[in-house]
Amino acid sequence: MLGTPDDNFASPGVIQADATNRYEPDPAFAFNPQVTRRATPSFITGAWFPQLSWDGRFPGSFRDPLTNQVLIASGGALEDQSLRPILDAVEMGHEGRTWNEVLAKLGGVRPMALATDLPADVAAVLAGGARYPQLFAAAFGDPTITPARIAFALATYERTLVPDRAPWDEFQRGNPAAMTPNQVAGMNVFNGIGRCNLCHVPGLFSDTQFRNLGLRPLAQDGGLQETTGNLADRGRFKMPSLRNVGLRSSFLHAGGLTGFNLVLNFYAAGGGTNLDNKDPLLQPLVLTQQQRGQLTDFVLNALTDPRVQNEVSPFDRPTLLSERVPPAGFLFGPGTPGSGNRLPAMLAEVPANLGNVDFRIGVGNARGGAPVTLLLGLRAAPPGTQVNGVNINVDLGSTPLLVNLVLGGAPGVAGAGYTTLSAPLPDDPALSGIVLFAQWIVWDVGVPAGAASSRGAQIRFF
Ligand code: HEC
Repeated sequence: MLGTPDDNFASPGVIQADATNRYEPDPAFAFNPQVTRRATPSFITGAWFPQLSWDGRFPGSFRDPLTNQVLIASGGALEDQSLRPILDAVEMGHEGRTWNEVLAKLGGVRPMALATDLPADVAAVLAGGARYPQLFAAAFGDPTITPARIAFALATYERTLVPDRAPWDEFQRGNPAAMTPNQVAGMNVFNGIGRCNLCHVPGLFSDTQFRNLGLRPLAQDGGLQETTGNLADRGRFKMPSLRNVGLRSSFLHAGGLTGFNLVLNFYAAGGGTNLDNKDPLLQPLVLTQQQRGQLTDFVLNALTDPRVQNEVSPFDRPTLLSERVPPAGFLFGPGTPGSGNRLPAMLAEVPANLGNVDFRIGVGNARGGAPVTLLLGLRAAPPGTQVNGVNINVDLGSTPLLVNLVLGGAPGVAGAGYTTLSAPLPDDPALSGIVLFAQWIVWDVGVPAGAASSRGAQIRFF
């Protein structure tokens, strides 16, 4: 339940979908994007950890997901980790997603079609219209796309990211001016009275061990114990590197501490209040305000590589669709609530890139079992358009396409109805730039008008 102490401030995922990739209400998140269990750590510095994930579930051996053959016996945590979100039903996939689906999708889409601001080297490789099979041929010698090759490519890229030009690094290399006197004092607090270095050992600023800081009750998250089954591992989490931690806006695996001053309060108190199996290295700290300020300056500024902060090579990257405002498709206009005063939800977050076999549009939060019509037109209705008091967002004069379906969900129950129209997009350049306007009309006998409507969605093919 939201707004209660066990809330997580973790990383966002995708809207829940079933084994056929149709939207499905999630008990906690309904038709909103699901939230993962924990705040995702940065992958920069991931290469130096023998095991990855807060709970150590990527122990460093990497098996081919198709054959189960061991491809890397140890040191392959990045490879192992890199594949997991792709199939995961919360992070990127849907229930029961298979590698065949992923490989078919990659075979059909244009690389980086969803991204802008491509780094020059990426843009140069794609300039001739190269598709994934050609890119795999260039990297591996033949065009076959396999999950193992995807993992090798992702992990190899991640290993090129070496954030070793923070002020602390330059200071260690013999430039005494690289850190300010305040930061030098902060470093001395870090390595002295603050005791931070006992665990966050310089230069990775992690000893790569798993430790219990007493942050949350064990019942909420067992940490490493969930992976190993060992009682001694209860509540232990992977110690993150503190490199570039000044660029984060929330801290620790639960993400609830949204300022570094809160982290310092946490450590000053000797860690969290859940004492079972808490690490004995944690001791209450007595720091003066000046020492706190120095420590803060050191951790937040002296450990940050300016190339990471400014996203310059090798840390340059494209801007993703999800970062752009407005995104490729967006909602517009009002809807009209139906039974139970529920507003039918327009589910239109899948990008309409040509060749996308996963394209779909859905409706949720409507009357269970009701008939629905999806209006698809080439023009939006003038703002304020209503028919029998129902808000309409698609221009009905432009001979829209009507798709009639019947909602799933318990019949007659307000908000229980939902359905998905799956529509794999042809890889036809002639469709590029076409904009469709879409809206769901729910034939809802529970309201006087006999109909409810969703908001409109503008879908631009590209
Ligand atoms: C007993 C070992 C230990 C000591 C001592 C320790 N830390 Fe940590 N630190 C950890 C572990 C383990 C985590 C991850 C815990 C989690 O999320 O459950 C962590 C997380 C952090 C984070 C959050 C990083 C992120 O990416 O979210 C910061 C910041 C941090 N520590 C700073 C400090 C500072 C500053 C000190 C000294 C005052 C310190 N730590 C002392 C073990 C320790």
